[in-house]
Amino acid sequence: MKKTFLFLIAAATLCACSQKPAETATQSTGKSLILYYSQTNATRQVAQLLQQKTGADIDSIVAQQPYNGDFNETIIRCQKEFADSIAPEIKPLSRNIAEYDTIYLGYPVWFGTYAQPVAGLIKSVDLSGKVIIPFCTFGSGGLRTSTSRLATALPQAKLLQGFGIRGARTEAASAELDQFLIRIGVKPGSLQKLPDYGEERKVTDADKKVFDAACGSYPMPLGTPVTVCTRETDTATDYEFVTESTTPDGQPMHTRICISVSKAEGAIPEFIQAIR
Ligand SMILES: Cc1cc2nc3c(=O)[nH]c(=O)nc-3n(C[C@H](O)[C@H](O)[C@H](O)COP(=O)(O)O)c2cc1C
Repeated sequence: MKKTFLFLIAAATLCACSQKPAETATQSTGKSLILYYSQTNATRQVAQLLQQKTGADIDSIVAQQPYNGDFNETIIRCQKEFADSIAPEIKPLSRNIAEYDTIYLGYPVWFGTYAQPVAGLIKSVDLSGKVIIPFCTFGSGGLRTSTSRLATALPQAKLLQGFGIRGARTEAASAELDQFLIRIGVKPGSLQKLPDYGEERKVTDADKKVFDAACGSYPMPLGTPVTVCTRETDTATDYEFVTESTTPDGQPMHTRICISVSKAEGAIPEFIQAIR
């Protein structure tokens, strides 16, 4: 099961990397809708925070035949849907999408891309001409790969840079969303200025301890850390590791793993995200 899962993620990742979403920020003037799918609540929490911060309307995407919330059963169902090129039918939305010009589109990352019900939405709803602001939650990562897939699926929409956070870190979402909304021009305010990372160097035993403390309990393999660069902020030391691994079909794979170690007494290194 784990091997198939990894293969599907790797395949999705390799396909998605050739497409890039638009990077321009915008100041939206029309009506905004937060439209999200969530199976186990992490994305719903982020959607609700976004709603508080933007005052946008909110609606959820519901599959006609709901996924039952079980990880393994969802994987088996998705594999069958991918094999048969099926996007699941979704229930009619309670909002009229034609009234909105900006859609915050939220989803959990599944197999490196947007969850299947979003494929169902794209199939059944006309999003051409809309400004799409993606947001997602994930186990380790997938913002870049999933938004690349969205860019391919929605060529007539204006896709902005998205927001992503690990489902295990939703308590950090409020502060990170504030910065995101400033960055895309939706909220006024000043962006936190972060120093650049230092030079990339080989991983030492001390670095490896940081990596293991942050990622050791993550259930999927993240690769072997080979190089790292760091930066010091007022509150933390941030690490960006590069790991090496092999995809199930034998291709070499490099992943960037971001970890932050707070300067607070006794802080445990925190796994922020994996970037593939
Ligand atoms: C079928 C399935 C596939 C998943 N694939 C990935 C993946 O490729 N990468 C990842 O980081 N997390 C993956 N996850 C983990 C979810 O993205 C993560 O738990 C997310 O926060 C769940 O959001 P939700 O609570 O809104 O459903 C997967 C979960 C499921 C059920």
